[in-house]
Amino acid sequence: MRETDFAWVREVVRSRAAIVLDDRKRYLVESRLGPLAREHGFDGISELVLAIRSGRRRELEEAVVDAMTTNETSFFRDGVPWQAMREHVLPDIIERRRTKRRLRVWSAACSTGQEPYTLSMLLHEHYPQVMDWDLEILATDISPSVLQKARDGVYAPTEVGRGLELPLRNKYFSPADGGRWAIEPRLQKPIRFERLNLAAPWPPFVGQFDIIFVRNVLIYFDVPTKKDILSRMEKHLAPDGYLLLGSGETTLNLGLGLRRRQAERAWFYQHG
Ligand SMILES: C[S@@+](CC[C@H](N)C(=O)[O-])C[C@H]1O[C@@H](n2cnc3c(N)ncnc32)[C@H](O)[C@@H]1O
Repeated sequence: MRETDFAWVREVVRSRAAIVLDDRKRYLVESRLGPLAREHGFDGISELVLAIRSGRRRELEEAVVDAMTTNETSFFRDGVPWQAMREHVLPDIIERRRTKRRLRVWSAACSTGQEPYTLSMLLHEHYPQVMDWDLEILATDISPSVLQKARDGVYAPTEVGRGLELPLRNKYFSPADGGRWAIEPRLQKPIRFERLNLAAPWPPFVGQFDIIFVRNVLIYFDVPTKKDILSRMEKHLAPDGYLLLGSGETTLNLGLGLRRRQAERAWFYQHG
């Protein structure tokens, strides 16, 4: 890939999604944009970039950004936080909302849906009374292609094989074409999937949340962007709400009002 093409991709991905691609990500750009270029009939990345820059195929700029998102995820990812969610966070927040009977959760970079569906499964399985409440799980992502897959809720055997115990798979999924598994509509019901760029102003449907998941996404941004997103999230978190980052991520050194608290073996953030 030519230096000027790499520089252009870097700039586009940074300005449109806040994702920082340093020099070590050159291989990633090549391995993702090479196939995209060929899929659209170009000989290589340079031809693809030229077509977009000249305005002939401007619409492919979005496909470039989409291709540069990393969508790695799984059901019950990392195990420990979900155990803490089940044994500590959910019982606490459900008790506090007993009178209002309203619960709002935001999965702020939901990728192909495993995160919001894991939560929906936990609620069905352990706190079924909440399913009759005013329950909303807002699941957002910048990538239209992962959102489409999340909405479809149909997963390959390898995807349901990762993190999901067989009894849960058998209870909440039904067999679909090609050995795939389709999630039960009752788990989809409380989830609203929407496109949202965390680094841009958020639309009005982002209200106040009892729990916010912002896991394994801030790692792609620079420090000012992380700070900006977390300080905006702070304002959308209920006074007694919980915010959860990915394992290995931290708000330390970001100088925010949220305090880190331990629940079981997992860390959550709450207002100080
Ligand atoms: C590694 S996945 C994390 C999925 C899930 N939260 C988890 O922990 O398993 C990161 C997701 O962040 C999304 N993403 C990247 N930049 C974004 C942005 N600026 N706004 C919203 N989502 C973004 C990507 O599309 C991707 O689906």
